[in-house]
Amino acid sequence: MTTTTTLKSFLGRGQHLGTAVMPEPLIQDKSYGELICSEFDTVCVEHHLKWQPLLLQGRGEHVYDFTMADLVVDWAQSKGLQVKGHTLVWHVTSPDIILKDKSPQQLREAIRRHIFTTCGHFNGRVKSWDVVNEALAPDGSFAETLFTSRIPAMELIEDAFKWARAADPNAELIYNDNKVECVHAEKSMKMFSMLESLKRAHVPIDGVGLQAHFDAAGTGLKRPATPGSLRDQIRRLATLGLRVNVSEMDVRIAKLDNLDEATRVQAQCDIYYKATAACYREPAFEGMTFWGFTDKHTWCDQFYWKDTPLLFDRDYNKKPAYFAIQDALKSVRDNAEKVKDDNEWTGSWVPQSPIASSQSEKRAKVGEALPDWQLEAQ
Ligand code: XIL
Repeated sequence: MTTTTTLKSFLGRGQHLGTAVMPEPLIQDKSYGELICSEFDTVCVEHHLKWQPLLLQGRGEHVYDFTMADLVVDWAQSKGLQVKGHTLVWHVTSPDIILKDKSPQQLREAIRRHIFTTCGHFNGRVKSWDVVNEALAPDGSFAETLFTSRIPAMELIEDAFKWARAADPNAELIYNDNKVECVHAEKSMKMFSMLESLKRAHVPIDGVGLQAHFDAAGTGLKRPATPGSLRDQIRRLATLGLRVNVSEMDVRIAKLDNLDEATRVQAQCDIYYKATAACYREPAFEGMTFWGFTDKHTWCDQFYWKDTPLLFDRDYNKKPAYFAIQDALKSVRDNAEKVKDDNEWTGSWVPQSPIASSQSEKRAKVGEALPDWQLEAQ
């Protein structure tokens, strides 16, 4: 009998590797669940654990329907997989219609009740929670959202973590955001200051999620973090006593449309390999979650453009990106000679920085409530 080595077989003690999971393919497609079980030890419910999807439509804020979220969580538990809870407080998938007319006090109470209801329902089944997601705008200021229009951002973040700790004392509590993988990015610096203040105030934050939605064609603010920058970001966050995870990794390559397919694939492999090798070498790094594992079910097709950002193709065949991850995990396990600590991308695929900053970079100076990925897709 041939024993195929799977990705999780290369993990070290305390290290994890996961993927976002949607309930529909889990129900409809046997291969989907089988591959998750063989390759990963952790799953993250991609959409159905958020506030709006948890409410029974049309029945207001007090009637929850946990069916789809329970389907994924119970399946994961039956397979011995750990579950990352995503996400308790995120302005993008909150029941705006219900919340928009509330007073500040009523809004705080609605958020508190949501956190206790959700954490209470999954108590003991969810290892960690992304308590607050994407509270920062692209320039590092607090995003102007339906929450912060009535509650000061820091007060909301502090309360959310305190409520989550009270609601599930055993869960690891995480702050999650995007475009915070580069150590010197303005948004990363401001996120660090925010976390430093929260930790100084003894707010129960245990970890940080760096989303790592990378576009190989990105330049300036959108260029993927180099391995050296990612490593330094993990180390800097570790000085606050925080554990770090890469929470939503995918690597888009379709916009390298001036290059041939082989070069685009090389770009994807370079980014996956170097990011993985840099992260898993760090003691404070606890694991990487891909935002899906097959190109058949990637959010990019709906929220960006048609792309092939993941490790398996649409027919569940392993892509070169899969083997790039495997080689990186192997190099870390075998403590192979370290990847050159390059703080810049090299290779024929690397796009040159534009002369004029792109429109979205100009927009990034505004504290937009829109998350980066909605800005980028415009
Ligand atoms: C996306 C999901 O992939 C989609 O299925 C859903 O419709 C919208 O949200 N940052 C996040 C994730 O934190 O929750 C988002 O996931 C992608 C951007």
